Amino acid sequence: MFDRPDSGERAILVHLTLQAGQEDLYELKELAKSAGAEPVHVITGTRKRPDPKFFVGTGKIEEIKAEIAFHEADIVLVNHALTPSQERNLEEALGVRVVDRNGLILDIFALRAQTFEGKLQVELAQLKHLSTRLIRGWTHLDRQKGGGIGMRGPGETQLESDRRMLGGRIKQIQQRLAKVSKQRSQGRSKRKKSEIPSVSLVGYTNAGKSTLFNKLTGADIYVANQLFATLDPTLRNCCLASGSEIVLADTVGFIRHLPHELVAAFRSTLQEASEADLLLHVIDSNAEDREDTIFQVNQVLEEIDAHKIPQLEVYNKIDLLENVEPHIDRDESGKPVRVWLSAVTGDGIDLLFQALTELFSNTKVTGRCCLQASQGGIRASLFKYAKIIDEKVNDEGCWNLFIEIDKKHLGLLKDVKFEEIAN
Ligand code: GTP
Repeated sequence: MFDRPDSGERAILVHLTLQAGQEDLYELKELAKSAGAEPVHVITGTRKRPDPKFFVGTGKIEEIKAEIAFHEADIVLVNHALTPSQERNLEEALGVRVVDRNGLILDIFALRAQTFEGKLQVELAQLKHLSTRLIRGWTHLDRQKGGGIGMRGPGETQLESDRRMLGGRIKQIQQRLAKVSKQRSQGRSKRKKSEIPSVSLVGYTNAGKSTLFNKLTGADIYVANQLFATLDPTLRNCCLASGSEIVLADTVGFIRHLPHELVAAFRSTLQEASEADLLLHVIDSNAEDREDTIFQVNQVLEEIDAHKIPQLEVYNKIDLLENVEPHIDRDESGKPVRVWLSAVTGDGIDLLFQALTELFSNTKVTGRCCLQASQGGIRASLFKYAKIIDEKVNDEGCWNLFIEIDKKHLGLLKDVKFEEIAN
């Protein structure tokens, strides 16, 4: 006999390859584990389009049934969005609970939400998800004591109540949320008035945002190797070397095809990001699908209208890469665009502070420099990024420039002697 952990539900994972809407099987496993389940078997298949009644074909149902019996599984997790009737039909056919991808993500959200607002938002999203499924009743399945995936949060009690009560509860939560969100935006405008720049950490789930946040602020935020460990924006003040202060916000992890109802429910978490002065886009540099996760995050940022906010990319987890030392990548003007570091070992954190200091120290300096005839490229960049107060060509054909330049662009002059003149 197998030893069974007390908490984990034994889950059969079902993943079909359809022509449209491909989901990631690896991610389903991670989602299942994040919800506390133990994936015991994976069933895959290919279909042109989902079966309207069961989503999967009848042959597949028999296969799933056999695996449930063999593995003594408690639950079937399907890596797609099921209609309420497909979910019910599958449960009746299989005799165990069936949870679809959206239900699974909601369940993880219910486990993770920590603040008052986060809890309200999860409850709201869950109630909305459940209200479409209320018609079915749950009498066809024995309910397990203590919940389980898809049964946590408000699920159990609300399922027993009628639609009217559910509607009332949804309204009540919406009103409370409106109040909390008003308070939050008052806090934000207060900060804006005091002109403390705000920086939001964004990034794909598990990229290391919370770890980095903790390193930068010394705060002890919940860090776990699970998806969506963080669900609420957490704000902390943080001091830069220049003595100036920034407000740093950690936000929820992004994920491919985040159900739309959830994007809406977590708007206030993301709102913090949509009003930031700078986004720290944290990227797992060791992830196989690194480029795709960057793309996915940028897509969500576009959805919340945050794509025009300047980004500093943080390529995290370099301790897992070979031959990569901490360093800063700069654009042609010398402005930092990417920092390579490890939030766990702390290597490169100083470089991140340096980059932030450069980006936020808006102090301009004036000075003189002399460019050789061969340095026309640098001259062109100076015309683009600096203010040219005066320019003269000397007898040797060199340019003598008197310029005012932002400190963050000083990198342009790294190969040139620049003589700063005190104001
Ligand atoms: P969500 O809350 O899901 O959005 O995750 P997150 O982006 O906040 O990630 P988190 O900080 O929780 O880190 C996820 C996992 O990656 C944890 O197991 C961390 O210990 C690990 N991790 C974070 N930074 C590094 C790093 O620099 N190197 C290594 N090796 N692991 C890291």
